Amino acid sequence: MTDATPVGVLGRDDDLRALDALLHGAPAQGGALLLVGEAGIGKTELVRAAEARAARAGLRRISVRGAEFGGGTSFGALRQLLDPLRPLLPSVTPTQRNALTAALGESVDERRRGPVEPLATGALGWAVLALAREAAAVEGPLLVTVDDAQWLDRPSAEVIAFVARRLVGTRTNLLVATRPGHDDLLRSVGVPEHRVTALGEADARVLLDRHFPDLDGPVRSRVLGAAAGNPLALLELPHALGQGATDRSPAEEQDPSEVVRLFGPRIRALPDRTRRLLLLAALEGGEAEDLRLVAGAAGLNLLEAMVPAERAGLVRIDDGSTRLTFRHPLVISTLVELATPTQRREAHALIAQALRDHPERRAHHLAEAAPGPDETVAAELEAQSRRCLGRGDVLGATRLLKQAAELSPAPRSRARRQVQAALIEVDVTGDLDGAAQLLADADRVEPTLTRSLPATVAATYLLLNEECDVDTAHRLLSAAVEAYPNRDDSSDAVLEEALLSLVMMSWFGGRPDLWAPFLLAVQRLRPGPPPLVDLVHSAFGDPVRLGTSVFSALDDALGTVDNERDPSRIARIGLACVYTDRMGECRQALRRVVDSGREGGAVALAINALVSSCVDDWLTGQWDEAVELANEGLELCRRHGFRRYSVILGGYIEQLVRISRGDLDGGLAAAAEMAQWASARGAGMTRVFAEHLYTLRAIALGDFDTAYGHVTRITTAGQLAPYNPHALWVLFDLVESATRTGRETEARAHVDAMREHRVAELSPRLRMLVDGCAALTCSGDEASRLFDSALSIPEGPRWPFDRARILLAHGEHLHRAKQPAARATLAEAVAVFRRLGAQPWETRASTALRASGAAVQDGPRDASGTVTLTAREREIATLAARGLTNRQIGEQLFLSPRSVGAALYRIFPRLGITSRATLAAALAAHAPEDTSYDDAQQADRD
Ligand SMILES: Nc1ncnc2c1ncn2[C@@H]1O[C@H](COP(=O)(O)OP(=O)(O)OP(=O)(O)O)[C@@H](O)[C@H]1O
Ligand SMILES: [Mg+2]
Repeated sequence: MTDATPVGVLGRDDDLRALDALLHGAPAQGGALLLVGEAGIGKTELVRAAEARAARAGLRRISVRGAEFGGGTSFGALRQLLDPLRPLLPSVTPTQRNALTAALGESVDERRRGPVEPLATGALGWAVLALAREAAAVEGPLLVTVDDAQWLDRPSAEVIAFVARRLVGTRTNLLVATRPGHDDLLRSVGVPEHRVTALGEADARVLLDRHFPDLDGPVRSRVLGAAAGNPLALLELPHALGQGATDRSPAEEQDPSEVVRLFGPRIRALPDRTRRLLLLAALEGGEAEDLRLVAGAAGLNLLEAMVPAERAGLVRIDDGSTRLTFRHPLVISTLVELATPTQRREAHALIAQALRDHPERRAHHLAEAAPGPDETVAAELEAQSRRCLGRGDVLGATRLLKQAAELSPAPRSRARRQVQAALIEVDVTGDLDGAAQLLADADRVEPTLTRSLPATVAATYLLLNEECDVDTAHRLLSAAVEAYPNRDDSSDAVLEEALLSLVMMSWFGGRPDLWAPFLLAVQRLRPGPPPLVDLVHSAFGDPVRLGTSVFSALDDALGTVDNERDPSRIARIGLACVYTDRMGECRQALRRVVDSGREGGAVALAINALVSSCVDDWLTGQWDEAVELANEGLELCRRHGFRRYSVILGGYIEQLVRISRGDLDGGLAAAAEMAQWASARGAGMTRVFAEHLYTLRAIALGDFDTAYGHVTRITTAGQLAPYNPHALWVLFDLVESATRTGRETEARAHVDAMREHRVAELSPRLRMLVDGCAALTCSGDEASRLFDSALSIPEGPRWPFDRARILLAHGEHLHRAKQPAARATLAEAVAVFRRLGAQPWETRASTALRASGAAVQDGPRDASGTVTLTAREREIATLAARGLTNRQIGEQLFLSPRSVGAALYRIFPRLGITSRATLAAALAAHAPEDTSYDDAQQADRD
């Protein structure tokens, strides 16, 4: 919208060098630079110079501009950036494409209306980066310039700030120009900054003389003095001083803010119709085409009315078009400043009238045009807000709703809109304290919160995943489902999403009574619950009772999951596999979701898929990978604030592996603390996690009485209660600790419960465990028969830890019966535990094996029984145990990461372990008697 006649950049050697440094990084790298300087100092001039240089170097260019009166349309600036890249949209992942098209203002997919995921800055940022990388791959390096960044709409500014820090490797360069003293989002994120300062005296003189060769001496020195090197002042003051302002004292103009007044006299001198038209153009802030419409609505002849403005050097009209360019952004500011409030409102009303086909921009102008409360306008804003929400633009939706509330004449509608806005805002600000109260208020003011379900789904999604606040999320969502007008239509996408969310909350809450609102909602559905809801509810919520009823649906879902494109569906199918032990069949699909997250797709879903994969790894004995995935997931959780997943990953699955490997205390305190924190917010499942950890720890220590105490806090012996699916994960723990402590009756009752509910039909793993548990409660031949049955299940070896525990029990049974087969069975158990690194169990099995008279092969030891490591090996092992990566260890010890890896490869089997997780414990166990590691190191230094 703004422009100046190019005269060639004067001076500015340092500034141009900074630009060159940025541009020359482009072919290989990518980076960002922020130009900061006062109004008129020459930032835009430099941006143009950079663009010209980029053009000469063959770089593709995209320019973006903030507009002071742009209407604050969400993502307006981002749209300028994305529009030219539209042809590349098919080459990014579907998730990224959805985010980008939503930001472009297009509904993702009309059939799936559920505004499930708010357009998160991170997700969009990653998507923009992926698109930029794609652009660079296809057309070579890119220069994106963002001018007048102080006026970017907030959502765009956030995305651009996000992107600006992550450009290395994208071959995209970003040059941003901004005035100081505004909301300095980009400055605050640490983008390298370059100050644009006044022109030097000599350059100032040349610039002035070039444009005003005939200025008389005294005026010339007054201009030079007052402009103080500000190029805009140098170019405009001569006009100002020439138009009756000569009596102004130079002192008045010394203040840089005075440049604002530069254009005032010329604007005041324009004919009325020209000023009206200029004001329309300034406020409309959009396309040339729209301006023609607006001028038409105002009954003005655009070209004719513009002539005086063009003659005064305030605008330029491109030949043959109606495209109007302002001399400088300050012309726009001054025009708006000089207009009266009534004039501004009239202008906005005319623009709104002309923009019938642009509902979002129209809404902004309608709001600005309204002199006071007006229900028609408020209703239109609210409708527009819903449209925004429909494509995930939460910020835009709240802004419009708040405006709607302000313009509502009736207190009830005002309150309702306010509450809805606040409810949606929970998403954005994460300020959750008042959320429950807000819903109560809303109920009081407007009992049918007719359109709040999408907002509530979005808000509670964050409440659950970011804050772990199950209680509040569950209460809000249940109430919103209840109040939803379309609550019995099973084809309603929003409702389906809400119900799936409710399943997750009810599960994570860990209390059967939490399922009541869900069950009520499902009963109402006509013709019946949506298949996915039914599947997840049955297989994940209450597998003991309902699992087998959805087996054919699960078969179907898993049959097509590899072609499934919707990551949230994949995640849900994954849930249905957790307790049915079928995760292996969707690992490939889950991997796609994780990969898309790594490339910048939906992060939350990627973490979710990591959790599922991690669970599968735990169950199937791929423990090194489980720890790796947990760490990757935890890092993502930390970066994006998904605390719920970090509780599951770090506070549970990772600890299960650690404890199983003999690290009995390392992470347990932190995990327990996490569980306490989360269960205080209603996440009862975390208490179950903690009990499971303590159960396993007690078993590892051989303290079966304590184990029994913990495990029976997860499930009562003899009962498999409804909606307590996790009881399926501790069947063996309960029965083993019961039989080891003389609680035969309880153990048998539990086996009876398994049989009554046909748990064995749920999966081969569970069949194996049910037989294994039953064997523990029997003696003699009956026990042997059951052990054999458990251990001969063909799929058994897929779950090595569970199977080896049964092997161990069987071996112990055989040993007690003085059967020679005990040795082979125990030896197999030892081998499996050793491969897993399950030290406590390996020790128990080895002891039993030795007792059975067999020699047990350990790692190499010296005469005293201590494992021998060289000083260097011990050094490497100690650093690895502290959690350093091979690269970091290599850096400390001047070794290549490869040599470090090779050394660890040698060390692990000698310590009898298979992973880093148990390294610390193993080192401590095998420490030389007299010298601690630190002493040895000290001795080396001396
Ligand atoms: N180094 C220069 N040589 C010649 N002309 C210049 C130079 N720097 C700026 N100008 C001219 O001065 C005027 C003001 O500069 P410019 O528009 O770049 O300022 P700005 O810093 O972008 O201001 P704003 O913050 O208001 O956007 C323009 O007409 C521009 O062409
Ligand atoms: Mg500028």
